[in-house]
Amino acid sequence: MLKKVDLKYTNRLINHGPLVIVSAENADKRTFTPIAWNMPVEHSPALIALTIAKENFVNTLIKKSKEFCVNIPSIDYLDLVLKLGSVSGKEIDKIREYKLKVKKCKKINCHYWTEAIATIECKLIKTVGISEVDIFIGEALYCSANENFKNDCWSADKLQTVHHLGNLNFVTLKKIKRN
Ligand SMILES: Cc1cc2nc3c(=O)[nH]c(=O)nc-3n(C[C@H](O)[C@H](O)[C@H](O)COP(=O)(O)O)c2cc1C
Repeated sequence: MLKKVDLKYTNRLINHGPLVIVSAENADKRTFTPIAWNMPVEHSPALIALTIAKENFVNTLIKKSKEFCVNIPSIDYLDLVLKLGSVSGKEIDKIREYKLKVKKCKKINCHYWTEAIATIECKLIKTVGISEVDIFIGEALYCSANENFKNDCWSADKLQTVHHLGNLNFVTLKKIKRN
């Protein structure tokens, strides 16, 4: 179950570099796209950045709608991540094809994935185009996380986010014990 997170802690949802699934939609078109290249940018306002290839459908939908939602998967969904990253929403409706459980976002006109461990709903505030990619900077309007986000931070004991090394290589986290 996802609970609201104070916007001032948005950066902590992705501080450790997890792969995310970005959802965006416009009119009757929508997609859910894995994005490894993402990062926090600023505390207040809470800004995050995504690097997205111009050819990806999610890029087109973000430019049209000027909003997007970040959905953070756990490693339980690695197969789904690979499926979502192997086909374009230009060709299929990924929600129907992969039976994604989705609900309407709270603050933007988009859907989030209900099995995510956290979400960040953003409005687009700046686009920096470089070569074949765009860097999208979004301001978080609403964030949520599951019960492992405690005392305004992820609890490392159970955090099993997906981290992309390249090709089909992934790792998850291991807690470092400090006394
Ligand atoms: C593990 C993984 C990480 C990826 N990271 C990125 C990324 O950071 N930026 C990007 O533009 N595409 C990235 N991709 C590629 C897109 O997810 C892929 O091209 C997708 O099919 C595009 O879907 P769309 O056309 O519906 O947006 C990644 C794919 C995978 C599997």
